Amino acid sequence: MDLTDAEVEALGTHGYFLRDGFLGEPRALAVRDAALARVAAGVLRPAGIRRGADHSLDTSVRGDHIEWVLPGSDAALETLWHHFRELGDAVSSAAYLGLGRFDVQLACYPGGGAHYARHRDAFPGQSNRRLTAIWYANAGWTPQDGGMLRLHPEDTGTPVDVAPVLDRLVVFLSERLEHEVLPSHATRLALTAWFYGRGA
Ligand code: OGA
Ligand code: MN
Repeated sequence: MDLTDAEVEALGTHGYFLRDGFLGEPRALAVRDAALARVAAGVLRPAGIRRGADHSLDTSVRGDHIEWVLPGSDAALETLWHHFRELGDAVSSAAYLGLGRFDVQLACYPGGGAHYARHRDAFPGQSNRRLTAIWYANAGWTPQDGGMLRLHPEDTGTPVDVAPVLDRLVVFLSERLEHEVLPSHATRLALTAWFYGRGA
């Protein structure tokens, strides 16, 4: 897998890039079915938030339900996991980020206005998350469903709203880009990979 020149340029300038058709529709639909099956099995749990040393639940900050995804748990999810690994390698060589291991999380916003308040995924200086890659699984998404990802690029100061449509990938620098999930009015599925620096 290679990054295009435009993707490398966008990552450096704006802190993010988008890619549509990351897996191709047949594989994307298979991953969607696998994600829906995990949700139907009732294995997702309300996501926590960190406030200082405390871990707590607060749906006014974050309303999604999550599960950590391991390779080998399901064939379709494993396909996505391998694509994330290739993406990490491609970003490492094209953008000199030195990415190492990554974690993958399945998140489901159940609708009813569930959202995630503006935040960063990491803070500079700690050897933690360096790159975030979010892949969406929402076939048939319409604007009434809500749940747009709102990015806050530092360079322009103008927010950018991204529709969470099937097979769209959003990649951004975890320490740099503030973002939020606007209220979701339908089931909203995303799989996110967080890549750590090589020393982490
Ligand atoms: C997160 C997050 C955004 C999205 O889980 O940290 O910001 O679009 N998710 O699901
Ligand atoms: Mn985030």
